[in-house]
Amino acid sequence: MSLRLRRPAPLTKEHQKGDFDSGDHSKDEWLRRHAGQGRPLDTAATWVIADQAMAVVGYVALAMTAVDASAAPESLRRQAPRAVPALLIGRLAVDRRAQGRGVGTALVAHVLATAVELREKAAFRAVLVDSADPADPAAVSWWKRFGFEPLTPGSTKLFLASQDIARTLETLS
Ligand SMILES: CC(C)(COP(=O)(O)OP(=O)(O)OC[C@H]1O[C@@H](n2cnc3c(N)ncnc32)[C@H](O)[C@@H]1OP(=O)(O)O)[C@@H](O)C(=O)NCCC(=O)NCCS
Repeated sequence: MSLRLRRPAPLTKEHQKGDFDSGDHSKDEWLRRHAGQGRPLDTAATWVIADQAMAVVGYVALAMTAVDASAAPESLRRQAPRAVPALLIGRLAVDRRAQGRGVGTALVAHVLATAVELREKAAFRAVLVDSADPADPAAVSWWKRFGFEPLTPGSTKLFLASQDIARTLETLS
């Protein structure tokens, strides 16, 4: 795998994803089998970092969602509708051969920069991560690095309030 990586870009048919191996089988399978359908179906926008040969080295999938206010902290539900609008990070993974080189962090930075742009045109209270597996505390600790916190104590869903995105982005630049 080449070390010279491309900037984050939308997943296209030109990208090679057959050999992607993050160590998390379900995330690998999702990229191989379902990510390509997300864009035409308007269910998920997958952004990838690829190497010079167009092999996918890391990806993140984005969609819009809503958080049930009854399962949200006061800061998110204050003066908000029952379905609190949020930007969803559905999945994020980096190929094992490229882990530890800043690709995951670059994908998070890309998502947060995208969130800043989106927030000018549409409103959402938080960025939500829906891939925190209670059986995988490593995933939770990864998101906490960027200021994400559980919606409720012990929740598998983590959030970063929209008003805090810029602060996290500053720490990444
Ligand atoms: C977790 C994952 C996305 C990290 O991607 P990456 O490209 O290796 O991460 P980066 O190189 O940008 O960052 C490396 C830093 O994050 C830390 N880190 C890596 N995984 C971590 C984790 N699960 N929890 C906390 N910190 C973690 C490293 O120790 C390193 O810290 P340092 O910069 O202080 O040395 C990647 O390992 C992965 O895809 N794992 C399998 C899928 C998964 O578990 N996804 C979790 C998020 S949904």
